Amino acid sequence: MWGGRFAEGPSAVMREINASIPFDKRMWRQDLRGSQAHAAMLGAQGIVTPEDAAALGTGIELVAADFDADGVPVDLALEDIHMLAESRLADKIGATAGRLHTARSRNDQVATDFRLWVRDSTDEADRALAVLQDALLARAEEHAASVMPGFTHLQAAQPVTLGHHLMAYYEMIARDRSRLTDARARMNLCPLGSAALAGTGFPIDRESTASALGFDGPTRNSLDSVSDRDFAIEYLTAAAQCSLHLSRLAEEFVIWASQPFGFVSLSDQWSTGSSIMPQKRNPDAAELVRGHSGRIVGSLVSLMITMKGLPLAYSKDMQDDKPPVFEAHDLLGLSIAAMTGMIESATFRTDRMRAAAEAGFSTATDLADWLVREAGIPFREAHHITGRAVARAEADGIRLDQLSIDALKEIDARIDERVYGVLSVDASVSSRTSFGGTSPVRVREAIAAARARHEEIGR
Ligand code: ARG
Repeated sequence: MWGGRFAEGPSAVMREINASIPFDKRMWRQDLRGSQAHAAMLGAQGIVTPEDAAALGTGIELVAADFDADGVPVDLALEDIHMLAESRLADKIGATAGRLHTARSRNDQVATDFRLWVRDSTDEADRALAVLQDALLARAEEHAASVMPGFTHLQAAQPVTLGHHLMAYYEMIARDRSRLTDARARMNLCPLGSAALAGTGFPIDRESTASALGFDGPTRNSLDSVSDRDFAIEYLTAAAQCSLHLSRLAEEFVIWASQPFGFVSLSDQWSTGSSIMPQKRNPDAAELVRGHSGRIVGSLVSLMITMKGLPLAYSKDMQDDKPPVFEAHDLLGLSIAAMTGMIESATFRTDRMRAAAEAGFSTATDLADWLVREAGIPFREAHHITGRAVARAEADGIRLDQLSIDALKEIDARIDERVYGVLSVDASVSSRTSFGGTSPVRVREAIAAARARHEEIGR
């Protein structure tokens, strides 16, 4: 299609390194959609005759039907999806196909196709994350009052509720969705009509193609339009950030499913066995979600480095923009679906969680706070007194709330019976009523507020 000035064809390796059809065939729907909009605009503007515009439109539909039925054939000689589609169009309608590329270049064409693809992918990720949020909300509601140890340094710190813990992930996913929404708003301008780099002398109507393709309007600078891949980088940034969250949640599941913890048992559907150790139930899906985040972050780094230092406008390096985005899309989709399935079907062992919370002296802060509140002791001193109570309980092999009043008074005479009201894990979580705190009352409010936001703004 560009061979006019060449006497010889490309070498086999040139053909191979040059071709993007093996991967960009994934954009065939977007490519044909862009061509439909372009052909209609050429007709409306009188750049091609109404008959030719109609023939182009029908021909593109025929090509779409073929691709739909048989897939896109990989022909390295045709280089990319744009040339392949045009060649198939010529098979359908003959020489008129050659009028489609009037006032257009593959540079604005690929920029448009890829934006459409990334926009679809952004919407898809957002929808999948909404389902994950629903799963988190449902399980959080069920466990709004289920006590578990809260950790810092992976050491039992203070009791929290499982509902509160799950809602922490709900918040992360809410931010991920708002990042996708932000990225979508910025990406939703149409580069079509920027042509090769400088615009075109044909009397095109960029507003009409932009609106036909669901964009908010045309991009403003032709050089920027054909060389900008910010939209893909922003999508990957959102995907990478989201994958970090998923990997943290996955890691919790790996830890919780281990025997020493035993906080969760994964359903059979989300476990795998070992070929040698019959007792094993491995959390492979969680481990792979954890692992995939590395590859998704790698995709972001890959595209950033591809774009770094490229002069205006288009350079062929930019053809390498697609594989990392496709890979991140696939891995993110799988990761979200797997985490959703695990959350929905997990059995939370609340008995084990409660026992672990009770075993870890996790109400020590409550004792110190009681000494401050009820006995007027400065916090630093209260902290010290509490440390002695913990040491005593540890030496006796009992929980803090099992220390006798005599033992407590021996540590500090200002302690009285009322202290037992704060030493249980239930009393501890119930007392944490500050906004955003773990008290079941607050957790239920947080769930209701999340549901209301979902109704109101969709996320
Ligand atoms: N396959 C190319 C890509 O993905 C399409 C644009 C080619 N443009 C060009 N001037 N060679 O980037």
